[in-house]
Amino acid sequence: MIQRTVHDFSDWREIARALRSAQVPPSEVQLLSNAEPTLFALDKTGFDVAPSTTNAFRVPKQFLSLAEQVAYHRDPTRWNLLYRVLWRLTTDERALLEVITDDDVYSLMQMEKAVRRDAHKMKAFVRFRELQQNGETHYIAWHRPDHAIVKKVAPFFARRFRGMNWTILTPDESVTWNQSELTYHAGTPRSAAPSSDELEDLWRTYYANIFNPARIKVKAMKAEMPVRHWATLPETEIIDDLLRDAPRRVQQMISSPEGYSQTASDYFPSADAPLTLATLAEAAKTCCACDLHCQATQVVFGQGPARAKVVIVGEQPGDQEDLAGMPFVGPAGQLLDRALAAAGLERQAIYVTNVVKHFKYESQGKRRLHKRPDAREMRACLPWFDAEWELLDAQVLLCLGASAATSLIAPDFRIQRQRGQWVVSRYCKRTLASWHPASILRLPTAELREARFAELLNDLRTAASGLRSDVVGD
Ligand code: URA
Ligand code: SF4
Repeated sequence: MIQRTVHDFSDWREIARALRSAQVPPSEVQLLSNAEPTLFALDKTGFDVAPSTTNAFRVPKQFLSLAEQVAYHRDPTRWNLLYRVLWRLTTDERALLEVITDDDVYSLMQMEKAVRRDAHKMKAFVRFRELQQNGETHYIAWHRPDHAIVKKVAPFFARRFRGMNWTILTPDESVTWNQSELTYHAGTPRSAAPSSDELEDLWRTYYANIFNPARIKVKAMKAEMPVRHWATLPETEIIDDLLRDAPRRVQQMISSPEGYSQTASDYFPSADAPLTLATLAEAAKTCCACDLHCQATQVVFGQGPARAKVVIVGEQPGDQEDLAGMPFVGPAGQLLDRALAAAGLERQAIYVTNVVKHFKYESQGKRRLHKRPDAREMRACLPWFDAEWELLDAQVLLCLGASAATSLIAPDFRIQRQRGQWVVSRYCKRTLASWHPASILRLPTAELREARFAELLNDLRTAASGLRSDVVGD
């Protein structure tokens, strides 16, 4: 029996490649999980089975990306499982991954799903606390993920909080961003959430170490830790926040083995929490009713005053909206702003939102190209709009583009033929639709763009006229 200790995915990959080349079957291999935090810097396990170039094998790409995700799972048997599946795939079961009823494949899928959900939970629940240190502002947070996902999720926070210095402490591993790079450190040797003051102490203890690696001594660190009564603390403020944010979701995660369900309303604030546009927007951060949340940077909720009389609805956030977290701020938004101003409508007084709240795209090199949401995604997301509409007291509903018009007015609505005309929708008796500003930007000539812009402007003027009750009649 060959025994190896595996620390992470690249480790596994290296070890598995060598074992496979040497044609060592899984029954003769035992891959042990090393759960020690990286701080302890265990020696890398040497490998003494000579890799053989004569036994070349090809691994399906799909398996490698699956394996990379599964590697973040906490199950200590994952390395053996991965090696076994690698073996089967590269011997006589090349199509194994399609056999989802297979026990090994099924386990891998479940692990991958658990990791994805845990990563999403971390993105939604981490709350930073501001701290002054040597005249600089640092943000610190504590989180306890179910799996070893810190390295998976850290780049997301680096993108999202690019201009901040922050540290996220977790029991396994901690990560710091100094506005240019991520560094990883030991986890916090505790498992209960610290109170705010304790979090600060905890962080200061680490701070000294983080910037002075020579001083990292686990025993010394433990001695310095304000461990006093941590173990007996009730769930503290961080957990409180979490519970306030999305009680229903937490409840669901506790009560259902699957943890998540498939419609946005499952992520609404709980019935006993105040329901406002702000609490709704906060709850939407936890939504994973469809897969779009996985790829997007953040949810882009509607924006505007609750007393808005006009509501404008687009399709989904674009690239810039996804990064900014606000609707219609990119090129289409700027065009819309111009049209609004020309129509005498004040954007500040309008509520602007989208039928789908996460950006759907396809990567092409560094660019992220907009992809149209499908019917299922629009259906999953619609409860957010329904709730927004309920909380508003609007008189006019304006749909921009086919996605908004078909989901809010009628499935067979045709912008080309029906734009600019008042229709009665299930939301509002003064509903109309117009060109999506992005569709104007895509037209090939200035002449066409100007003509379509004029139509949009016209429709906005019609929308403005709807605010006078004599136009359509109440
Ligand atoms: N397009 C939309 O439909 N919505 C936005 O928020 C931005 C671009
Ligand atoms: Fe939820 Fe809508 Fe995002 Fe899908 S797109 S995860 S339904 S908020």
